[in-house]
Amino acid sequence: MSNPHNGNLHQENDQQPLSALTRQAESVSHATADASLPATPAPQRMPVTLNVNGKAHTLQVDTRTTLLDALREHLHFTGTKKGCDHGQCGACTVIVNGRRINACLTLAVMQDNAEVTTIEGLGTPDNLHPLQAAFIRHDGYQCGYCTPGQICSSVAVLQEIAQGIPSHVSEDLLAQPALQPDEIRERMSGNICRCGAYANILAAIEDYAGGQPS
Ligand code: FES
Ligand code: FES
Repeated sequence: MSNPHNGNLHQENDQQPLSALTRQAESVSHATADASLPATPAPQRMPVTLNVNGKAHTLQVDTRTTLLDALREHLHFTGTKKGCDHGQCGACTVIVNGRRINACLTLAVMQDNAEVTTIEGLGTPDNLHPLQAAFIRHDGYQCGYCTPGQICSSVAVLQEIAQGIPSHVSEDLLAQPALQPDEIRERMSGNICRCGAYANILAAIEDYAGGQPS
């Protein structure tokens, strides 16, 4: 069997300069690539209107833009945090049409005309939401990166309980869920805190909700 590095092959190509051989190889390689790969489509842009914290914002976005990136990069609501960008940490939780969602898992164009509430819409440094004040009182954060998502989630959790929506740990699916520590823990389980401030987060939520400390 011939060896590509032996003298035969070398002799066949001896008549052509190396640069010509290189150009031939590149043109074959490009032709193969062009034939086998689909053309990359141009980005599609669409208008979308987001009602954020009570104010309408109309944007032209690449249709692949997530709600999280629309909020942070286009509208500069940077209170909403990007942790995993994969729906696993809850740092990006916002309230959309009354329900909490992970803003990294939905496209902005899917939320056209939606009512979006971010942490900036719940309270301000001069006028804290009572739950934000409870987080401070109970030392419910350390680095604070998860805190906006924790607080948006908490507000929606208490609404879910008030509306009688059962969770995985509700014993009676038809009864009004009790404001028990396990109900709160289960419902908050999608919000990860790398600092491990869970006990104080629970205390803050119970304090705000008027429940008994666990
Ligand atoms: S950034 Fe959305 S869930 Fe982690
Ligand atoms: S306070 Fe640091 S991640 Fe929760």
